[in-house]
Amino acid sequence: MKKKLSSFVILLSTLFLTSCGSSDAESMSSTAGTDELPYIGILQLTSHPALDAISEGIIDELADAGYVDGETATIDLQNAQGDQSNMQTITERFITNKADVMVGIATPAAQALANATTEIPIILGAITDPVAANLVDSLETPGRNITGVSDQIPIDQQFELMLQLVPDLETVGLLYSSSEANSLSSAEEAEKIAHALGLSTISKTVNSANDLAQVAESLAKDVDAIWVPTDNTIATSTQTLIAATDARGIPVFPSVDTMVTEGGLATVGLNQYAIGTQTGQVTVDILEGADPATYPIQFPNEIETILNQEKASQLNITIPEDLQADIE
Ligand code: TRP
Repeated sequence: MKKKLSSFVILLSTLFLTSCGSSDAESMSSTAGTDELPYIGILQLTSHPALDAISEGIIDELADAGYVDGETATIDLQNAQGDQSNMQTITERFITNKADVMVGIATPAAQALANATTEIPIILGAITDPVAANLVDSLETPGRNITGVSDQIPIDQQFELMLQLVPDLETVGLLYSSSEANSLSSAEEAEKIAHALGLSTISKTVNSANDLAQVAESLAKDVDAIWVPTDNTIATSTQTLIAATDARGIPVFPSVDTMVTEGGLATVGLNQYAIGTQTGQVTVDILEGADPATYPIQFPNEIETILNQEKASQLNITIPEDLQADIE
């Protein structure tokens, strides 16, 4: 009996939604309950400072545009704690609840959503390389039910910064997780850039945060600096990485502002919160009728150099005059 009732309610709300514009649906919500409110499911891969800032940016931007959880929208923010089966359970929950739009924060989360539906619009939240992750046909014309924001950053500028701070740099370690399409794509590019600059590279991958300490220690022995892409596995365990590299006096160039704050030396990167608000804007556009198939992937508006003065002093690295303004 209960089952029948709820499917009836869902059917009714579907009828309402398809026959009314969103503002009509809103004004009816007081009599018809919350079922007619736009339902936004947000799947966050895991918790680390960068992804937390991104989801905060999304929620704030949705609120600014008039989508407030429990009032004018149902915003269902779920964190999978890095677990594949959690991602599936959460995805099924969104689909059962007839989400109007689903947002995936980080590549594995977006892939879990994309595997489950070709119909419900999916918004990419900070996906480094949507093409390599097989989420869209092209950046300009995604071609499917998926569009959103990429957090791709200029890796060549990161390497120029590295050379400025470590002038006698010869060998760079590239450290990332073997299971993240986002990291594989950036690491391939980093390798090419390093070689073009005459640097040699040693690549090492981790399977999970559990082997990070050991892999980082052995890499730090053989290199002058370590570069890390926007890797979710490493971002959850930045302290572990920094402990291993500090023991050898090796600077880390992560691709992420929050990881510089946590003990990396420097990066050219972007503001994670701003990537979140940008993702929120795309979500609003799609909710209000834009077609993901023809909505180009968005890129960050601003990149910045971020330096950790304390770490530089600790490693006896002098920050050149022209970079002093970028100290955070
Ligand atoms: N770009 C990552 C991905 O595609 C997600 C991400 C955004 C991230 N900001 C980050 C990962 C900071 C690590 C650190 O999955």
